[in-house]
Amino acid sequence: MEQHLITGKKVLVTGGAGFIGSNLVEALLQQDNRVICLDNFATGKRANIVDFLEYPAFTLIEGDIRDLTTCRQAVEGVDIVLHQAALGSVPRSIKDPITTNQVNIDGFLNMLVAAKEAGVARFVYAASSSTYGDHPGLPKVEDTIGRPLSPYAVTKYVNELYAEVFHRVYGFATIGLRYFNVFGRRQDPEGAYAAVIPKFIGQMLRGEAPVINGDGSHSRDFTYIDNVIQINQLAATTTNPQALNQVYNTAFGANTNLNEMFAILKELLIPYRSEIADMQPVYGPERPGDVKHSLADISKARQLLGYDPQVDFASGLQKTIAWYVKHLQD
Ligand SMILES: NC(=O)c1ccc[n+]([C@@H]2O[C@H](COP(=O)([O-])OP(=O)(O)OC[C@H]3O[C@@H](n4cnc5c(N)ncnc54)[C@H](O)[C@@H]3O)[C@@H](O)[C@H]2O)c1
Repeated sequence: MEQHLITGKKVLVTGGAGFIGSNLVEALLQQDNRVICLDNFATGKRANIVDFLEYPAFTLIEGDIRDLTTCRQAVEGVDIVLHQAALGSVPRSIKDPITTNQVNIDGFLNMLVAAKEAGVARFVYAASSSTYGDHPGLPKVEDTIGRPLSPYAVTKYVNELYAEVFHRVYGFATIGLRYFNVFGRRQDPEGAYAAVIPKFIGQMLRGEAPVINGDGSHSRDFTYIDNVIQINQLAATTTNPQALNQVYNTAFGANTNLNEMFAILKELLIPYRSEIADMQPVYGPERPGDVKHSLADISKARQLLGYDPQVDFASGLQKTIAWYVKHLQD
């Protein structure tokens, strides 16, 4: 695993106060990098980065990627950008497509322009499995996508188009990572747009039955955060020229449906709250814009980047629950 480590670099993590970003910041600081976090705390939390503020190698820029001047300031002297800042959530984008577009497309373009102008060597960005849209094929292979099912999916696809064009037109080196339902420590369990795993863990620990949208047969390639950290490091450091200017499925490569997920969660949470043994989920309507199934073919990332995800769904869930039990009950 050693060769994957980014070390001795100046790295900008946009969205570094968010779930994935703060985990990247933590790993980078542990590996002796100087880390700049650019975040406007739209959905990120100060609690996610408070422990890093004491590191001299850590700099927080509280600012907005919609502002080009801020982006330019953030990329000064930076070797690598790990661009995570965006407004996530399909339902949020359906409710407010304009803000999602401004942050996810205008903000993305600002970051690309600023990074290119500053001579950043590598720009790795968070793409999304939502780009597969209505294409029914499983497992998902990078080259075969469908039509987008939500404004969010449009924005993430436009990111890929811009990154590709920046390579063609300016020779700028980018790598897009199509994340598939990432989960793990520090993911926000609260709010209308919370992701399913932290939301269910929080609800079940409070004794509330979670609501499954649909009949529970929807499935996802749930991906533990440590696998995502690994692929970001590989993408940031690869010396394989064929690996550049590509997008990669970022997943474990197995899928679990929501009924199965609930059953595993239940089993793992019973030791912390015995009433969970009798808990049943509530079934609600399907959500518009949701893809029914998602499962990644990860062979491209294995071949070109040497990606080798180490943590499967069940063990990732175990680690995640241990973290929430400690932090939600503090
Ligand atoms: N979590 C997943 O399963 C998943 C799946 C696919 C793609 N992604 C992508 O991964 C990235 C990180 O997602 P996450 O789950 O950590 O979400 P998150 O909401 O926890 O993190 C996003 C961060 O970006 C920041 N941000 C938002 N708007 C900003 C702006 N205008 N300027 C500066 N900072 C801003 C937020 O405050 C937050 O800290 C996003 O690009 C998201 O679209 C996530």
